[in-house]
Amino acid sequence: MRVFAPKKKGDDLVAQEEEVQISDSAAVDEAELELTHVGPYEIVAPVGRGGMGTVYKAIDRKRDKTVAVKVLDRRYDVDKKRRRRDYLGREILLAADLKHECIVRMHKELLEEEDRDGHVRRCLIMEFVDGHNLRKHIIERDLSFSQMVQVCIRLAQGIDFLHQNGIVHRDIKPENFLFTRDLQQVKIVDFGLSKTVTGWRGRWFKEQGGTPRYMSPEQLSKHRLDARSDIFSFGITMYELFTGTHPCNGKDSLEIRRQIRDPRYKFEAPSKRNPEIPPKLDRIILKALRRQPERRYQSMTELLLDLTRLGESKI
Ligand SMILES: Nc1ncnc2c1ncn2[C@@H]1O[C@H](COP(=O)(O)OP(=O)(O)O)[C@@H](O)[C@H]1O
Ligand SMILES: [Mg+2]
Repeated sequence: MRVFAPKKKGDDLVAQEEEVQISDSAAVDEAELELTHVGPYEIVAPVGRGGMGTVYKAIDRKRDKTVAVKVLDRRYDVDKKRRRRDYLGREILLAADLKHECIVRMHKELLEEEDRDGHVRRCLIMEFVDGHNLRKHIIERDLSFSQMVQVCIRLAQGIDFLHQNGIVHRDIKPENFLFTRDLQQVKIVDFGLSKTVTGWRGRWFKEQGGTPRYMSPEQLSKHRLDARSDIFSFGITMYELFTGTHPCNGKDSLEIRRQIRDPRYKFEAPSKRNPEIPPKLDRIILKALRRQPERRYQSMTELLLDLTRLGESKI
């Protein structure tokens, strides 16, 4: 199955663009599962795959409890150099204590299990979100304008909560936003690259990460960054949600990176691509996308306020 093919990428963690949601209908060949169970949980099926690992749906049959299990690719989990970075450990450290309806809940401890090759793998146990990630709506264009505004408000509330707790997510993008099928719940996931605001100094230059198409200019330039970088990435995400297209038209990741950083490359007003978008929303998205952090929204709270006003006026 394609999703289990080992990825041959460079050492850098920047090339995480192939994140996919695995559809329910994907046939599961048990022989290909790297794990059949984790602690009391029986692995049922893969549900998603990001740049770092695979997420499985799993069930504790005795307690009739369904969870999501995140298992890092072995190259991230066993490699000594990389293990020092400890992505799963960081996810737990930063996110396990967060209690907000828009942040995925996770267990405070990693479980260890031997995989089919006898290697001990560490697994992160999370609440299972039975649905899909935001990419689906960008592709299918199936949300009404007011639904899109409401989705952005919920996501902005979650990101604002993170920032209020001193956490910069650093990998804000559609694949890290999950929805239940009925769209009633929205959850932010994937804190493997997140940092606390007090913790990044001095370490930032040594450690990269993120997804180039969603990185802020300062993140791409490897400058020190703060919560305003997440605001830029959220601007790209909103742009894609409302227009179905990325603001940059570059053919490949390299060109897109260049366009994000180049002040001469103007982001087209979203309303040019979707006439349903009112000028107020153009302004919100373009303000989130200003290249200089000082000229952007200075906090998610501010952006949220503008979005909420828009929601009230339109609906
Ligand atoms: N708790 C969850 N419930 C259901 N699906 C999930 C859950 N967490 C992640 N996924 C799916 O797996 C994909 C990859 O998960 P993520 O945590 O972003 O991993 P990575 O660090 O490899 O990017 C997500 O885009 C989503 O489709
Ligand atoms: Mg991810």
